Amino acid sequence: MIRSSELDPGFLQEVMAIPGGENLLHCWSCGTCAATCLVRRYDPSFNPRLILRKAGIGMRQEVLSSREIWLCSACDACYPRCPQEIHISEVMRAIRTIAIRDGYAPPGPSAEVDSALCSGCAVCTRACPYGAIDRVPVIVDGLERMIAQVDPNTCMACGICVAACPSGSISLEAVRNEELLTRMSAGGWLAGQSQPEGGKPRILAFVCQWSMRSDAEWAEVEAMQDDSLRVVNLPCSGRVDPALVLLALAEGADGVLVVGCGEGECHYKRGTYLGRGKVALLRSVLEQTGIGMERVRFVELEALQRGALPALIADMAAALGQPARVSG
Ligand code: FES
Repeated sequence: MIRSSELDPGFLQEVMAIPGGENLLHCWSCGTCAATCLVRRYDPSFNPRLILRKAGIGMRQEVLSSREIWLCSACDACYPRCPQEIHISEVMRAIRTIAIRDGYAPPGPSAEVDSALCSGCAVCTRACPYGAIDRVPVIVDGLERMIAQVDPNTCMACGICVAACPSGSISLEAVRNEELLTRMSAGGWLAGQSQPEGGKPRILAFVCQWSMRSDAEWAEVEAMQDDSLRVVNLPCSGRVDPALVLLALAEGADGVLVVGCGEGECHYKRGTYLGRGKVALLRSVLEQTGIGMERVRFVELEALQRGALPALIADMAAALGQPARVSG
């Protein structure tokens, strides 16, 4: 039930006063955005139409305190379909700006910069799909230098900056390199303490968590893990770190498979493009060094390919054949 006494008639103007928020006035609540939203495929509770509608009629408190306003990843899949040509992600950003001003915080972690390690090279500012990282001046030992600073309001925790940072000064909870390494090597898997049956190749799969459409699909893939397969989930294939791929190959993996969302389906705008590009570069390096480009592969798992990952893993295993290993 909506109580008129709880509505704030000034909220519409408040949102519209923030650049991008003016689009709220043009929303017809037709629901086209909800029908095309990528986030809704994974979290049906997210409904951009409803959020804009509530904001438009002044349900300030309910909108600002809701978890859903933080879920829009600004992939802008809805934008080309919106009959009013509204950048809904911009309206969401305006709403989040007010939420932060009112003391609310994003529910998830955001990337953090270790200012002692940051060299201010700005690689992260260019890599971030959201423009969430800027360089700011700091004074160290009486000298001014520039370091990266993350805006938690805009950061979507894709981890792309973590993989891009050459000095290792950016970290993101749960996907720090140390944590990924722990998951890669748990149980002595990387060290090859047990050999796969039948001389099967040992494959490490970095899988974008959004490329799996359901918990059941994840459970199926995780249940496949054995001496020949290790699955490590990433927030986005753009988070894949070539250094970790090379380390895996050096430490006993016969092949590394990187799995991303289909082109245009990446939850974080250009993660598929970045992940595929990194793997392509890595493959050419592996070919030039004689290690073999077939040992690293990038595959896109489109929304319509539900359940296809086991076949893609089997295909890579077949391509790798039975690798020669030194026993004992
Ligand atoms: Fe899946 Fe970016 S979210 S590749």
